[in-house]
Amino acid sequence: MAPLPQPPVEQAEQSLEQQVRSIVATHRGDRGALLPILHSIQSELGYVDPAVIPILADELNLSRADVHGVVTFYHDFRSTPAGRTTVRICRAEACQAMGANALAGHAQARLGVAFGETTPDGAVTLEQTFCFGNCALAPAVQVGDRLYGRVDADRLDGLLEVDA
Ligand code: FES
Repeated sequence: MAPLPQPPVEQAEQSLEQQVRSIVATHRGDRGALLPILHSIQSELGYVDPAVIPILADELNLSRADVHGVVTFYHDFRSTPAGRTTVRICRAEACQAMGANALAGHAQARLGVAFGETTPDGAVTLEQTFCFGNCALAPAVQVGDRLYGRVDADRLDGLLEVDA
């Protein structure tokens, strides 16, 4: 099948700007709107493209450094698109006590990426989180939308085989 034609870069950028300005418009009048706007951008566009920073600075009358500081402070915001499957490993206390740190090291070595990164083939994004509320079944791991308990290295490998 022939690849679909891509819009010119200028048009794609214009479209990103239009999308961002329209998301901002839905939060017009909200106090402290930057965080909810960033969450909306990530939810609607999949990630917070660094190109949105000057647009938000302009819309919200903030400096680019202010917006950049907020985007980079919160680890929830991705600057690149996520992989087809997102794997989240809990690093909070109860899971740590049950081996989550070793599991985290295993996941990074197996996938060849650090937390917040996506495998080069775009299959898996690895993230850490701090408590799923599944502490009784620590260590807890989420693969896509499904939460798993008592995950050790072998089980994680199996989950990655199935879902990645
Ligand atoms: S500490 Fe990991 S699920 Fe609560």
